[in-house]
Amino acid sequence: MASILVVGSLNADLVVRAPRFPQPGETISGGDLQVIPGGKGANQAVAAARLGARTSMLGRVGRDNFGNFLLDNLQTNHVDSSLVQRDDASTGTAIIVVDADGQNSIVLSPGANGKVSPADVEHASFSTFDLLLLQLEIPTPTVLRAAQLARQNGVYVLLNPAPARPLPNDLIALADFIIPNETELSLLTGMDMRDIPSTEAAARKLLEHGAQNVIVTLGSKGALFVDTSTSTHVETFKVDVVDTTAAGDAFIGGFAVKLLERSKRSLTPVDATEGESYAEHIEEAVRYGCACGALACTKFGAQPSLPAKEEVEKFITSGTNYQ
Ligand code: RIB
Repeated sequence: MASILVVGSLNADLVVRAPRFPQPGETISGGDLQVIPGGKGANQAVAAARLGARTSMLGRVGRDNFGNFLLDNLQTNHVDSSLVQRDDASTGTAIIVVDADGQNSIVLSPGANGKVSPADVEHASFSTFDLLLLQLEIPTPTVLRAAQLARQNGVYVLLNPAPARPLPNDLIALADFIIPNETELSLLTGMDMRDIPSTEAAARKLLEHGAQNVIVTLGSKGALFVDTSTSTHVETFKVDVVDTTAAGDAFIGGFAVKLLERSKRSLTPVDATEGESYAEHIEEAVRYGCACGALACTKFGAQPSLPAKEEVEKFITSGTNYQ
């Protein structure tokens, strides 16, 4: 069974549906407030666990009710939370408005997520995992240290550079897989994305910085996989969108689990006896990630929307709505 460590954030999402986003200085009314488990790190951990991976979460929550709520939720989803510490700071929160089209607008209050330190990751048993998942809702020095330790232990490093933030090239160079969206890629490279060729050109800049594989998530346009020898645009699935929150996290969880289905723990990409090329295998993992992301858009909220393995398989094999 694939084994994944997530070093990242846990948030209580405070979510209101509204007909549209308010203008600056404007007050509008929305629906009832909902408190939903979220945070990019915890979302990706739950996504991977629901797809069948053995998953552990490393991070911090406060000694408050939100902290209890998030830890209970990890347990319910079979995510090991023994590496999540309690902190004097409040549990991280995300204030989220979801509009009538299912698009969201998010303001983060990092709280305890901002206290996850390089020392926190020093004693994790990296060698017992196949893959490390990282995002940017905790301090960059911690992300960098976790990536270094994973690499030293022969563990895949998958970096999701979200939310968008400038990064040291040292960190990009440690990524076996870096998975930005278009906004994040633009910020990391200083380049504009107009179409697939310009997106590929920007992705190649991350390869120049030392990342091994770049996958750019393109929302309803699918995803673009770029490595030194290949560039493949994978179309996604057409669904009726209820809420896009955590669609990217669902993609990451799905991609990681599918990748590990056929990859070895070492950085040898594929079991050669299966006769499938490395690029084809990654393409299959990207398609699986797209299915997970699409399904997450059909339900409200972050973690409640993350699909289980059976749901994803049924969705893919049904072939309905495949663009
Ligand atoms: O990616 C979605 C997540 O971003 C939400 O759950 C929210 O907590 C923010 O971190």
